[in-house]
Amino acid sequence: MTSEIYILGIESSCDDTAAAVISNGKILSNVVASQKIHEEYGGVVPELASRAHQQNIVPVVQMALKKAGINKNKLSAIAFTKGPGLMGSLLVGASFAKSLAMGLEIPLLDVNHMQGHILAHFIKAEGQTAPSFPFLALTISGGHTQIVKVTDYFKMEVIGSTIDDAVGEAFDKSAKIIGLPYPGGHLIDKYAQLGNPKRFSFPKPKVGDLDFSFSGLKTSVLYFIERETSKNPRFIQENRNDICASLQATIVDYLMDKLKNAVNQTGIKEIAIGGGVSANSGIRKALKEAEKTMGWKTHIPLFEYCTDNAAMIAMVGELKYKQGLFAKYDVTAQARMEY
Ligand code: KG4
Ligand code: ZN
Repeated sequence: MTSEIYILGIESSCDDTAAAVISNGKILSNVVASQKIHEEYGGVVPELASRAHQQNIVPVVQMALKKAGINKNKLSAIAFTKGPGLMGSLLVGASFAKSLAMGLEIPLLDVNHMQGHILAHFIKAEGQTAPSFPFLALTISGGHTQIVKVTDYFKMEVIGSTIDDAVGEAFDKSAKIIGLPYPGGHLIDKYAQLGNPKRFSFPKPKVGDLDFSFSGLKTSVLYFIERETSKNPRFIQENRNDICASLQATIVDYLMDKLKNAVNQTGIKEIAIGGGVSANSGIRKALKEAEKTMGWKTHIPLFEYCTDNAAMIAMVGELKYKQGLFAKYDVTAQARMEY
């Protein structure tokens, strides 16, 4: 009997099929199969996503075990994403995890995807620091935009959230308007770094102190592009970098305004970001600056733990395993889920 704990994490909530193995806080493997099929549709097609998960799940899990250098019989438990996410996608990971756990006669751990983005900070890795409690988590992804007050591993309270689109959607929809392929968030970021952020101005949406709204921004980008291209059909090609830089600056400023409000209201200056949009260079830079100018302590996960991944699911699984928070074998996936 070994005292080492090995947890296999499985993530399939949206369009990435992922598996990872963690042992005592260290990631031994982290495999992600991203589904390219959605690019041509300009967004995730749920039916195609679940089909692709079915194709990918076995090779992805096998690869994760191989890279970790362990045999499945060495696993202590299986963690999987229970929700939130696309039902058809979640079901593939959930069914696979349940069958494998039952076959191996080991415990099953159900994980909230959003808790995964937050608790990814506790993965032990060079270049990554774990926040101390209490901290504020800004979860920014294609599906969520939230400010969460985290007082313990599993004590989380949402204190602000979007009333319409998520910030990742604002990036992706704006990218589509300027003719970039889906998902265009990282491309806006890439071109933004070459452009002038003060060249154009976009209005910052006005909603409650800690809440977000992004649908108006998308509409103003659309009207702006329509207006300018009617005057100059080559407007986008000629100004792409400046459009991206100005748009990114507006979004980053807006996120920072909300974080400042949350810090003022709670008195908590320890900030951790998570979710795909935390890969954004603008928000990373703004947070680093806030350390100097406002005395915040900020935590930014490594790139591979920002976008959807199974390492974060394995991390939450390990925390739950240590606390004995096991799931029953008849647990079901859940498309909508609170913390
Ligand atoms: O967390 P994630 O991988 O999936 C969801 O749970 O949604 O986040 C994906 C989102 C997409 O909207 C994508 O465009 C955005 O994260 N994203 C970025 C960047 N990298 C990924 N947005 C802005 N800048 C980036 N560098
Ligand atoms: Zn996510």
